Amino acid sequence: MVKMVGSREGYDLYADSYSKDYRKLDSFDRADFIRLLPDKADVAVELGIGDGRISGEIEKRANTFIGMDISMNMLRNAVHRAPRAQLLQANSGEDLPLKNEKVDLLVAAFFFVHLKDPGLIIAEAVRVLKPGGIFLFNLIPQRREPELKVGKKRFKIRSYYHSPPHVEKILDYHWFNWEVTIVPEGKGWGSKIYRCQKT
Ligand SMILES: C[S@@+](CC[C@H](N)C(=O)[O-])C[C@H]1O[C@@H](n2cnc3c(N)ncnc32)[C@H](O)[C@@H]1O
Repeated sequence: MVKMVGSREGYDLYADSYSKDYRKLDSFDRADFIRLLPDKADVAVELGIGDGRISGEIEKRANTFIGMDISMNMLRNAVHRAPRAQLLQANSGEDLPLKNEKVDLLVAAFFFVHLKDPGLIIAEAVRVLKPGGIFLFNLIPQRREPELKVGKKRFKIRSYYHSPPHVEKILDYHWFNWEVTIVPEGKGWGSKIYRCQKT
């Protein structure tokens, strides 16, 4: 039987397989994501840091780097890729344990797919970013959860499809200046990377 599980249970189970199975993400989105990062950020925060796949690149641009994830096992694997990061186990889908207007750069790669309501985190981004701060995230056109297997356990991690026009309306509502980079389908998944600046 294939069980549907939440992010915490699912990624705790899947943590040691993630980098093997999802290393292919590097081949199509990593370069685009990194190209869109600002050269420097005093305070950078990554939501759903996972195993730190792109975190080394964020860390080297930041004076202070905070990484959050709901899964402790994913965070354990992130330690090696972002040794200077302050890692925090937190559900960051709704409220961020951060003060107002303290963050220069907020990054969320392959994270929105696990959020039921992306509006909540976009509102939090507005709250925690300094004016002029950058929010970099992507949307993927995944409509059904892939089946994952670890040993004898077969499961799917609950995920949600968010249409780009819907998310763009929310960005406009919060007065973000945003631009989108489309990662071509042939190259990967046809994901869209949003670089948003708080006005
Ligand atoms: C698809 S992985 C992406 C990991 C990494 N950002 C990358 O690009 O490889 C999604 C990550 O988000 C985390 N996550 C999912 N829902 C979360 C939530 N509500 N709060 C914090 N982390 C969450 C998962 O545990 C997982 O590590």
